[in-house]
Amino acid sequence: MLSIAVIGAGRIGQVHARTIASHPQARLALVCDPVQDAAATLAGTYGARSCQDVEEVFADPQVDAVIIGSPTPLHIPHLLAAAKAGKAVLCEKPIALDMKDVDAARTELDAVTVPVMFGFNRRFDPSFAAARAAVQEGRIGALEQLTIISRDPAAPPVDYIKVSGGIFRDMTIHDFDTARFFLGDIVEVHAVGQHLDQEVAQAGDFDAAVVTLRAASGAVATIINNRHCASGYDQRLEASGREGTLFAENIRATTVRLSNAEVTDAQEPYLDFFLERYADAYRLELSAFIEAVEAGTTPPTSVADAVEALRLAEAATESATTGQPVRLG
Ligand SMILES: NC(=O)c1ccc[n+]([C@@H]2O[C@H](COP(=O)([O-])OP(=O)(O)OC[C@H]3O[C@@H](n4cnc5c(N)ncnc54)[C@H](O)[C@@H]3O)[C@@H](O)[C@H]2O)c1
Repeated sequence: MLSIAVIGAGRIGQVHARTIASHPQARLALVCDPVQDAAATLAGTYGARSCQDVEEVFADPQVDAVIIGSPTPLHIPHLLAAAKAGKAVLCEKPIALDMKDVDAARTELDAVTVPVMFGFNRRFDPSFAAARAAVQEGRIGALEQLTIISRDPAAPPVDYIKVSGGIFRDMTIHDFDTARFFLGDIVEVHAVGQHLDQEVAQAGDFDAAVVTLRAASGAVATIINNRHCASGYDQRLEASGREGTLFAENIRATTVRLSNAEVTDAQEPYLDFFLERYADAYRLELSAFIEAVEAGTTPPTSVADAVEALRLAEAATESATTGQPVRLG
């Protein structure tokens, strides 16, 4: 049984608290958030303790591990402080808003000895994981093209967008990691950003984008992102090889289809958002973290994965700004 503290009681902190509370090998020990109400309400829902000062988490002998769901600029400071206190870490993406912050902490990050995993939950989605396993088993021959579609049902609040680091660091970062999960090293990034939503444009961000990534293998991935989708949280991918194609489709609450005089094969909208769509993935991500911590093995996602995803996000930001492809050394 791993005793876990959640740092940050916002959107993702709530997902993790719920996942921990329902996991047979985990116990939610503590929830920390400087907003007292947020911490106390979330902790109270699951019978855990709460605090406002993150130092209390690191000093607590009853806490074995932390899940970092605080705002992105705090990820590296919280990760390093937790590691110093001997706590295993599951940290949310992205690792930082700027590669300069990673570079400044590089020596300290390299010296971390506790298990550290990053929250690339989509690797644990049963459909995406099965598609990737089929590629690894050679079921479609050499992978030639990968298409990843990720559209949110609605844009987050503008206040969040302003501090998010932009669509590529905040949203596409998951897809960059998925592309690396399937294709390995990426050598070229070409991104086109779109301003379809004036509120988001005024906040200084793109609200939609199309990115192509060329892998070292010669395969190309296309990522299609949009902050809006009328039919729900649109999450699917297609992997194409010389000997076949894999399709990982959207998920709906039921498989019921309606046909009548107006419509045929009508289904419900896609599951609403990340809490519902990736509930299994968050649970399996937590299981993988617990297993690595308890067995003393290397967690399946690493600081290096988080850094590479951020590097791709920075390259995409540069490409969308200049209109030129960016080659990675
Ligand atoms: N993997 C995923 O599916 C996923 C989904 C959403 C967000 N995220 C990531 O999680 C992070 C948080 O995003 P969010 O949407 O939950 O944001 P949010 O704004 O909803 O929540 C952040 C919380 O952190 C709290 N906080 C601020 N300073 C703190 C401190 N010093 N110590 C502890 N808590 C502190 C805030 O009060 C707030 O409650 C971001 O890095 C985001 O990219 C990941």
